[in-house]
Amino acid sequence: MINVKQKFIEFFTTHPRNHREIPSSPLVPENDPTVLFITAGMHPLVPYLLGEPHPLGKRLVDVQKSMRTDDIEEVGDLSHFTFFEMLGNWSLGDYFKKEAIFWSFEFLTGKKWLGLDPKRIYISVFEGDGNAPMDNESTLYWKDAFAAAGITAELGHPKQGVIGNARIFPYPKTKNWWGPAGQTGPCGPDSEMFYDTGLQVHDTKVHGPICHINCNCGRYLEVWNDVFMQYNKKTDGAFEKLAQQNVDTGMGHERVTAILEWLEGKVSEPDPFQTGLFKNIISSLESLSGKKYDGMYKRYMRIVADHVRSASFVISDGVMPGNKERGYILRRLIRRAVRFGRLLGINGLFMKTLSEIVIKDYQTDYMELNKNSKVITDTIGMEEKKFGNTLGRGLKELDKYQVLTGKIAFDLYQSFGFPWEMTAEIARERTQKIEKKLFEEEFKKHQELSRTAAKGTFKGGLQDQSEKTTKLHTATHLLQQTLRVVLGKHVRQKGSHITAERLRFDFSHPRKLTDEEIDKVEQIINEKIKDNLPITTEILTLDEALVKGALTVPEARYPEKVKVYSVDNFSKEVCGGPHVGFTGKLGTFKIIKEEAAGNQIRRIYASLTG
Ligand code: SER
Repeated sequence: MINVKQKFIEFFTTHPRNHREIPSSPLVPENDPTVLFITAGMHPLVPYLLGEPHPLGKRLVDVQKSMRTDDIEEVGDLSHFTFFEMLGNWSLGDYFKKEAIFWSFEFLTGKKWLGLDPKRIYISVFEGDGNAPMDNESTLYWKDAFAAAGITAELGHPKQGVIGNARIFPYPKTKNWWGPAGQTGPCGPDSEMFYDTGLQVHDTKVHGPICHINCNCGRYLEVWNDVFMQYNKKTDGAFEKLAQQNVDTGMGHERVTAILEWLEGKVSEPDPFQTGLFKNIISSLESLSGKKYDGMYKRYMRIVADHVRSASFVISDGVMPGNKERGYILRRLIRRAVRFGRLLGINGLFMKTLSEIVIKDYQTDYMELNKNSKVITDTIGMEEKKFGNTLGRGLKELDKYQVLTGKIAFDLYQSFGFPWEMTAEIARERTQKIEKKLFEEEFKKHQELSRTAAKGTFKGGLQDQSEKTTKLHTATHLLQQTLRVVLGKHVRQKGSHITAERLRFDFSHPRKLTDEEIDKVEQIINEKIKDNLPITTEILTLDEALVKGALTVPEARYPEKVKVYSVDNFSKEVCGGPHVGFTGKLGTFKIIKEEAAGNQIRRIYASLTG
């Protein structure tokens, strides 16, 4: 079997590409209020795309864990996942379109690399609009790359489909533009590579009159995306040119693996769920259910397999099931998997067994799975048990009604723990529709959380690197050091989360803080603010940073070279930034609340005013 990840890293780290490998960031972004999960490799790299120097230089390569749950109900086909692994190479103001395109082509088609037949590769480019011109440059480089392989590649038109030598097709922003994932931030035109499976699956009634590379019929599979990040979308909607031209590429590991195993004849269709990535989970599902991975059971098994893999990874990055934000998404994943397990005819507990398989299959690449294996399997097992008890009764209750209303959806949520989305999905299976508004009205009546905020956050995307969050980030560093001064050196960061309004800081400490301690912490921080201390940064190897006493987050993984932020000689932390230049900018620091956040872990909410 071709180890795609290994090849990718090898290709990009060797001469003349000379990239440096960076570890995957956790799925839960640090200090970013606007997204629940990392949804793409660019996300943790935004400061560097905007021009901050990266400790490892201008050429990076990584395999980033990512989570997208916008399309959760699409999972079950050949191409949708919630959790996935994204392979990417990065130029931070170094090489641009030419190298990116030639290297993409070489990696896809080179005999030493993936060895795909170049005749089966098709390309899309940005067609241009009022914000940015047609990407003629990429078109030319692609033509050259194909020519070197003896193939004449011409610009075609999607409306005419794949005819003659047409191999490169222009599409609008909806298809060939990437980012910003949030309201503002780095973005640019992209160029995608497709593999022609040759499968005759186009159905004009479903997929449109003409089969073209982006028509979604499944004949042409997108394998890789080269993004040329050269713009910054500003709050007023304008696109300004970035000071540096970046490259961000993303290759979906699952998709590429499926194509390769299919070409090797290992699987019957380019189906990621039949590949080595999922086959142990699927075969365990087959034996648990006594059903074959076939017909309608394929969809059910894919859903369970995808969700159990996601849930395991999400828990390993510190999320617990709950009623809000990340916890809610995790709960939804587990409960949805349990329901589809029932539809497969599995009546006993099964999720824990499956999560054990995920851990076993993925622990070599992700040591956090092994490290947290007990917490993963226990959490999944407990959540399954809890929901398993009420699922059957809830479904019976649900069956009593001909028409499902918002009130019923709410009662199912309240009494049987049915996530709203699950009831809505069941309604759709019965070809009914429930208005979310009605459910939310019931919800509000009960003074519980509104999911709207969480949804907004989730869709929101990248952080607007606003001044307020930057200030709170610097305040977080002051807080950690001050807690160590006041409470002792055992204090270490356990979690951090910042919104424009407040910071939240979790740290190791065995008991509640006294009023005196809280006063003292506030007083010291406000003194440090008044002293207007400078914040400086340096790039060191991780060892040097540790020797110099820089604090790290115990659970985090770091590359060999890191950035260290110091607040004068008061605090020193390994951190990606950004921070303010002087503490005088912060205003007045105030602790809003102090509470328990787990066994031997305390949580502080604090804000800055003025
Ligand atoms: N950001 C781009 C994507 O997610 C390329 O990495 O497709």
